[in-house]
Amino acid sequence: MKHEAIEKSVWLLILVTLVAVSVGGAVEIFPMLFDKQRTQPIETLQPLSAVELEGRDIYIREGCHTCHTQMVRPLRAETERYGHYSVAGEDVYDHPFLWGSKRTGPDLARVGGRYSDDWQRAHLLDPRSVVPQSNMPAYPWLFERELDGRLTGRKMQALRRLGVPYTDEQIENAADEVRGVSEADALVAYLQSLGRDMNEYVRQQGGAE
Ligand code: HEC
Repeated sequence: MKHEAIEKSVWLLILVTLVAVSVGGAVEIFPMLFDKQRTQPIETLQPLSAVELEGRDIYIREGCHTCHTQMVRPLRAETERYGHYSVAGEDVYDHPFLWGSKRTGPDLARVGGRYSDDWQRAHLLDPRSVVPQSNMPAYPWLFERELDGRLTGRKMQALRRLGVPYTDEQIENAADEVRGVSEADALVAYLQSLGRDMNEYVRQQGGAE
C-alpha cells in the first residue's frame, strides 16, 4: 500500500505534508493579490488631515483599540446598531489597521458625527459625566498636553511612501496645522473622521446597504 510507505517514513511524510499545505496556502493567498476590491480605495476616501493623523497616533498610544473595534461585521444586529458594514476599500490608507478584536466598548468605525465635539471632550475627560454606567477610563492628561507638530510632516511622508496620496503642500503645512492643538482636540478630530468617507460613499450610492 502506498500510504503505508508514506506513514512509515518520517521524511517522506514531512515532504508530502509540506506540499499539501503549500498548495492549500497558495489557493488562499494568490487570488487576494489580484483582487482589486481589496486594494482600491472607495471613491470618496480622503487621507486623514494632519490633526486627525496625530489624533490617530494618540488613539494607538492610549490603547483605545484594545477595547474598541473599527470593524462592522455584515450581520443585521451590527448594521442596525452601527451603520453600513465595513468594506476593504475604506481602510486602504490605514497603516496599521485598527480593526481590533475585542469589544469592551462599542465599535467605533461609524462614530464620526454621532456626537458633538463637546460631548466627545466631556466623555474623554470623565466618561461617567455623560454615560453614568460607563466603565471606560478617563483621559484627563490629554487636555493638558499640546502637540508641537515636529514629526507630523515626516509621518505623512512615510505614509505617502506606502501609497497614501498626501500632496507636498499638505506635508509642508502639517506642522503649522498641528502646533498648539491639544491632544484631546486632535483625538476628537480623529474620532469625528471615523466613517465619514464611507457614509459619504453610501449616500452617493443612494443609501443602498
Ligand atoms: C477599558 C476599556 C476601554 C478603553 C481602554 C477605552 N474605552 Fe471607550 N468605551 C468603553 C466602554 C465600555 C464604552 C461604553 C460606555 C461609554 O459610552 O462610556 C466606551 C465608549 C466610547 C465611545 C462612545 C461610543 C458610542 O458609540 O457611544 C467613544 C467615542 C469612545 N469610547 C472612545 C474611546 C477612546 C478615544 C479611547 C482611548 C483614548 C477609549 N474609548 C478607550 C471602554 C473603553
